[in-house]
Amino acid sequence: MSASIAIAIDGPVASGKTAVGKEVARRLGCRFLDTGGTYRAVTLEALRLQLDLDHDSRLTDLAEHIDIELVGGPDGDRWLVEGVDVTDELRSPEVDRAVSKVSAVSGVRAAVVPQQRRIATQGPIVMVGRDIGTVVLHDARVKVYLDASPEVRAQRRCLEMEQSGQSPNLERVLEDLLRRDRIDSERDDSPLMPADDALIIDTDGLGLEQVVASVIDHAGAA
Ligand code: DC
Repeated sequence: MSASIAIAIDGPVASGKTAVGKEVARRLGCRFLDTGGTYRAVTLEALRLQLDLDHDSRLTDLAEHIDIELVGGPDGDRWLVEGVDVTDELRSPEVDRAVSKVSAVSGVRAAVVPQQRRIATQGPIVMVGRDIGTVVLHDARVKVYLDASPEVRAQRRCLEMEQSGQSPNLERVLEDLLRRDRIDSERDDSPLMPADDALIIDTDGLGLEQVVASVIDHAGAA
């Protein structure tokens, strides 16, 4: 793959973007960036500083000055905020609850998107998020939008939570997922939607291997 090649994968909460994106990146020998991590890092720091999440300019100021780094480790990439490894905290229930609100703030997005683009210029990459094909890498040759029914996504999210030692309630997980979908798709700035030229894959009933193979086929044909 040439240094300019990028694969953009978008989709709603628990549509399988991260698992699929990581595996596609591994097989094609490119880097992987889960852009949700950048919004989660800003959210975690905002919660730590006890910022008012209704105060857009404070959140924007934080996003403009925060030091976020992604560094490779033996067990995968680690996220550092102000030099501290926060990888394990980024998926906490508190961050889950607040991140859609923080990422809907235009000033936060304006601060974060250029950093994501800069990473994409450093070599072949698979980038996953909500607005990669439509905004961040709108010139990408390979765009994929992963979808799945809310029920299937809620079951997947519960399984992930159980694997990390939590005891999720399916109904509550489904409610939370629908709430986050609504905020992500209805926001004014860069709402979640498939790019016009994205391959849309409905992953209900498909295993990881089938989805990964479809994305790699699509990348080969593009
Ligand atoms: O994929 P995730 O659950 O880690 O994303 C966390 C939040 O960040 C999600 O509510 C939507 C937002 N997000 C975004 O707005 N744009 C992206 N490119 C990635 C994530």
